[in-house]
Amino acid sequence: MTGFVIAVDGPAASGKGTIATRLGGLYSLPVLDTGLLYRAVGVLTERAGRDPDDPAAAAEVARALRAEQLEDPVFRTRGAGEAASRVAVHTGVREALLAFQRAFAAQPGGAVLDGRDIGTVIAPGAPAKLFVTATPEVRAERRWKQLKGQGEDVAFEDILADIRKRDARDGGRDTAPMRQAEDAVLLDTSDLSIDRAFDAARRIVEAARARWEAQSFSS
Ligand code: DC
Repeated sequence: MTGFVIAVDGPAASGKGTIATRLGGLYSLPVLDTGLLYRAVGVLTERAGRDPDDPAAAAEVARALRAEQLEDPVFRTRGAGEAASRVAVHTGVREALLAFQRAFAAQPGGAVLDGRDIGTVIAPGAPAKLFVTATPEVRAERRWKQLKGQGEDVAFEDILADIRKRDARDGGRDTAPMRQAEDAVLLDTSDLSIDRAFDAARRIVEAARARWEAQSFSS
């Protein structure tokens, strides 16, 4: 029996990160924020004086990335999100990051992963899949408040434009575009507080876990 894997996908600032972290706490599962990998590659490519739109340069950085490098708070900034989305279109970058993510998902005890392609590419067999979304306006407001809290001085309209651009790029790329897996449950958090959103996510995952346990015991 493989471990219980929870795939949490969705666009930027949909609430998927918070939901994934809380689910990890609830089920005592390790959590991987896969966006952080792309953020690290984007920032480290720029730091090396190379162009995030250059597939070979970004893939080289992705292949050299080590887990110990992921802790830098600069990866949480607005610029890092934009660089991440740019490097994430390159097939070579995605391939370089695949094994690490698959190994994380394959831990015997199970895992929670959040990203864009977890339910479709990284862990297509995950027994619990959520696609967390919200309107661009709601997501922009959340991101704007978060960035202001981190001391970044940004205009709401600029954040909304960022979000729309990221959605189009992440959903429109050829390799592993952001999309809801056929067996994922859609959770729209536009009108939900984070506590209510988590409660809805928990109920979806509980139902999936009951099905998974029943199947595991019968096979
Ligand atoms: O979730 P996030 O905002 O930290 O992700 C940053 C960017 O990384 C996102 O715009 C697209 C890319 N990404 C991806 O392509 N696939 C993932 N599984 C996670 C993130």
